[in-house]
Amino acid sequence: MMTSPTARSVSRPPPKIIQGGMGVAVSGWRLARAVSAAGHLGVVSGTALDVVCARRLQDGDPGGHVRRALAAFPVPAVAQRVLDTYFLPAGRPTGRPYRTVPMYTLQPPAVLQELTMVANFCEVYLAKEGHGGVVGINYLRKIGLPIPVACFGAMLAGVDYVLVGAGSPAELPELLGRLARRDGVALSVRTQGTTSADGTFAVRCSPRALLGAGPPLHRPQLLAIVASTDLAAGLAADPATRPDGFVVEGPTAGGHNAPPRGPRRVTPEGEPVYDDRDTVDLDAIRALGLPFWLAGSQGSPEGLRSALAAGAAGIQVGTAFAFSTESGLADRLKRQVLQDLATGDVSVRTDWRVSPTGFPFKVLSATGTLSDPQVAAERSPVCDIGALRSPFRQADGTIGYRCPAEPRRMYLERKGGRAANIEGRRCLCNALLAAVDLPQQRPHGYEEPAIVTAGDDLSAVTALVRSRADAAPYPASAVIDHLDPAREHRA
Ligand SMILES: Cc1cc2nc3c(=O)[nH]c(=O)nc-3n(C[C@H](O)[C@H](O)[C@H](O)COP(=O)(O)O)c2cc1C
Repeated sequence: MMTSPTARSVSRPPPKIIQGGMGVAVSGWRLARAVSAAGHLGVVSGTALDVVCARRLQDGDPGGHVRRALAAFPVPAVAQRVLDTYFLPAGRPTGRPYRTVPMYTLQPPAVLQELTMVANFCEVYLAKEGHGGVVGINYLRKIGLPIPVACFGAMLAGVDYVLVGAGSPAELPELLGRLARRDGVALSVRTQGTTSADGTFAVRCSPRALLGAGPPLHRPQLLAIVASTDLAAGLAADPATRPDGFVVEGPTAGGHNAPPRGPRRVTPEGEPVYDDRDTVDLDAIRALGLPFWLAGSQGSPEGLRSALAAGAAGIQVGTAFAFSTESGLADRLKRQVLQDLATGDVSVRTDWRVSPTGFPFKVLSATGTLSDPQVAAERSPVCDIGALRSPFRQADGTIGYRCPAEPRRMYLERKGGRAANIEGRRCLCNALLAAVDLPQQRPHGYEEPAIVTAGDDLSAVTALVRSRADAAPYPASAVIDHLDPAREHRA
């Protein structure tokens, strides 16, 4: 049984291991639940959960998990509307495309807000089901438009931690406090071609307009994912922006990485060059007096020991969990990567061009995925998810939305984007959904190809897979045992 969102009895010690948020749906509820039930912090990815939930329902909701969570949503009529819109009891006929979900704008329609709220509720509800451990949810500040309503949905399910990376979460402490009181919130959104400092552009969420009145909600702890001492110190300096802790993430971590400081420097292979300026000063972090966790190549017993010795509360690990049984990564991709690792044939590249966000993104080489230039060249650009679109001011002063991975003509001619922005970009929205077995179907039997991300350090994955005879995925509990052999098991 899930505990009431407002009931929090004794305060717990901070977790030693955080299983990092991995989007899209790589750290889904199954993985987070396994880690949380083992007494650590399991984190679900909050990215694009609207699309993930709508697609799971269109696939017939195998196992009935989404419907079980929907049945627990506090306002049944709202959950019913989502079900009525997307649920297909027999799933989709082979080859039929998924019904698309409206794209986010500064004024998201009520149906999209409801879907996002409900989807975030379901993911946290399922991750918390059947144990008393803590659960977190991860958002990327760069993908700001859904954040207010997504946080509200996660809080309705009693989420314990919100972890925010890819930008400054300075507005989040106040936002979470207001949502806990069910007050309306506004989150500023950077709009290209304008100064964002005027505060004109914000995305709003009104819990009362969405659900009417209700009891106060538990305010989750906020962990800011940072790659710089300055950002951490700036956030900690003001009570209004101070998070409850930090995840200090280095540039070897999987997923997106912070760009290097200083002038842009790249290796001949096009990878960003990091140097001393990108090393976070742990003495300075410790001096801020807030708990912190180290992330990026920390996934080993030595990583955990040295983090604790440096005064950290523990470590955040992603890559080792990404290839576990409970991760949402498509089983065939897990097996392919694990087989390749067994023969030593895997590389990870930090690609500065691939992500429409402009942040470096780690791409693992895997046959049949977008890491293969041939597979990338065969894809016809289409933008039908739009999670990475940025608002921009159009010539007539109104706000438009564009993504450098959308069709060229649209981006360059209709939306005035810069040609220099589009080289090498890939549609991460479609590719990351394909990686978790939710690929969109296109005409003539074409299926959207996947992209796989992982950190530079694959040694834990290698050790774990070599300990098995069959090069098959290993349970998340094996990762925890590997990281912390002396851990206490929880019921
Ligand atoms: C497959 C994958 C997806 C990731 N996606 C996200 C994400 O959506 N948001 C985020 O803040 N971090 C993301 N990360 C980073 C992890 O949360 C974590 O900080 C990182 O993996 C730790 O370093 P490691 O990869 O060396 O274990 C991702 C990592 C991986 C491997």
